[in-house]
Amino acid sequence: MQSVSGLKTGSILLPFLTVKGGEGLSGHIKVSGAKNSALVLMAASLLTNEILHLRNVPRLTDIEVMSKLLKAMGSDLKKHSDALIIRTNPLKLSSNNLPYELVHALRASFVCIGPLLARLGEVRIPMPGGCKIGSRPIDEHIQGLRALGASVEIQDDHVLAKVTGEQKRLVGARIRFNCKSVGATQTLLMAATLAQGKTILDNAAQEPEIQDLAMMLNNMGAKVRGAGTSQITIEGVQHLGGSIHKVIPDRIEAGTFLIAAAITRSPLTISPVIPKHLEAVTRKLQNSGCLIQYSRESLRIVPRKILKSVDITTHPFPGFPTDLQAPFMALMTTVEGTSKIKETIFENRMQHIYQFQKMGAKISLEGNTASVIGSKSLTSASITGGDLRSCAAMVLASLAADGISIIKGLEHLDRGYENLSLKLNKIGACISRSQSQAQEISNRNTKTLEAKQNIYSETDVA
Ligand code: EPZ
Repeated sequence: MQSVSGLKTGSILLPFLTVKGGEGLSGHIKVSGAKNSALVLMAASLLTNEILHLRNVPRLTDIEVMSKLLKAMGSDLKKHSDALIIRTNPLKLSSNNLPYELVHALRASFVCIGPLLARLGEVRIPMPGGCKIGSRPIDEHIQGLRALGASVEIQDDHVLAKVTGEQKRLVGARIRFNCKSVGATQTLLMAATLAQGKTILDNAAQEPEIQDLAMMLNNMGAKVRGAGTSQITIEGVQHLGGSIHKVIPDRIEAGTFLIAAAITRSPLTISPVIPKHLEAVTRKLQNSGCLIQYSRESLRIVPRKILKSVDITTHPFPGFPTDLQAPFMALMTTVEGTSKIKETIFENRMQHIYQFQKMGAKISLEGNTASVIGSKSLTSASITGGDLRSCAAMVLASLAADGISIIKGLEHLDRGYENLSLKLNKIGACISRSQSQAQEISNRNTKTLEAKQNIYSETDVA
C-alpha cells in the first residue's frame, strides 16, 4: 500500500499524478470492495466477542485509519490479502482512549458510538468535526441514541453517552429521522441490535451499504427487517456471534469507471458490480448517449462519439449519488449543450468548479446549482482535488484533456480509490505517480510527455 502522508518531515514533497490526456481506454476494469460499507462493517465487529472475517476489503488509507481505531479500542486485527479478521476481546474493549486525530481524520469512525454504547453502556468519543464538503452534523445520531434510552452530552469536544438503569442496556423505541442519513441509520441500526425489545427506524437511509450491514448483522444473529426500504425494524437480541462476510462491490468506484469510459468515449467492461446499485447513474449516461449492456455482475458501456448534456440533481439512494456529482460534472464539460447540476446533500460540494475552470471549462454557479456549458475539449492544467470525489473527478477530466495535467491532493484520492492509476493504466490510460516538491511541480513546463517521464520516473506502487 502506498504511503501518502508522505514524505520526509520538514520537506514540501508531495505525491502527485501526471496524466496524459486523449488516450482511449478499452478492456475490462475490476471494481474493489466498497469503502463505505467496509468501514461500517469493521465498526460492527465491536458488537461481538467472536471472530468477524471480512472479505473483499479494499486497501485504502481510510481502512488503515479505522483499523488503528479498532486497535485503540482493544480489538485484534489480522490482514491477509483482501481479508480482514477482527476479534474484540471483551476484557480489553474500551472507548476511553480513542485518539482525537483518528476520529477527526475519518468521519465514518463516529458510527462506532452505536456498537460501543450497546456493548459497554458508556462511551466517550471525540466529536467528528466538519469537513470540506459541509458541516456534517451528528444531531440525528444523538437524538436516536437518546430515544433508545441513553443520556448524551457534549463536553470538551467529546460526545459522552451513557445508558442508565441497572442493566445498562438500551431499550428499543420508534425513531423517525428528520433527514435521511446514512451514518445515523447505521449507528442506530447497530445500537438497536443489542437493545431490549423492538426498534423501528422511520425515514431510514436506503443505501446499499445499509443493506450490506443488515445482511451481515443478521448472519451474526441479529433480527433486522426492511433494510433497503425507508422503514427498518430491529428486534433486539442478547448477543451476536461472528460471521464471514464478503463486502459488496464499490458502486461509487464503479460509477467513476463508467464516467471514465464516457469521458474518453471508450468502450469498457466493469465488474464486479451490482447493476441495481448504479441505476440512477446508468440512466443518466444512457440519456447522454451511452449504450449500456447489463449482465448479472458486470456492466458494459459503449459511449457514442458525440454525447449530449443531461441535468442531474443529487438525492439519497436510489437517487443520483452526491459522491458522483463531481465526476459527472467533469463529463458534462465535454458534451454538447448545457447541463444543470444541483447538489442537495452537502452545502459545500462544488469546490471542483474552480479546478475545471482552470482546464477551460465554462461553468457558472448559482447557490448549489452549476450550469455547465459543454465544449469540444478541456486543456491540461495543474489542478488539486480538495476532497476524495473531486480528486477522482480531476483524474477523469485530465483523461479527456489535451496535453499533460498534474493532479495534486492525492491524500484524498488514496482514502477511497484502490490503485486508481494502476487500474486505469491497465486499460490504456497514461498516468504516472511520483513525489516531488510542490512548488516545483506547478512551475514545470508541461509540453511533452517524454520530458515528464524523464522527470517523474518513479513507478506507481499503489
Ligand atoms: C455517507 O456520509 C458517506 N460516507 C459519504 O461518502 C456520502 O457522501 C454520504 O453518506 C451521502 O451519501 C460514508 O459512508 C463513510 P449522511 P454520511 O449522514 O453518513 C445530514 C465519500 O466520498 N445530516 O447520509 O456522513 C448531512 O449534513 C463520502 O465516500 C444531518 O443533518 O452522510 C447531509 O446533509 C463523503 N444530521 C445529509 O444528512 C446528522 O446527524 C446526509 O448525510 C447526519 C446527517
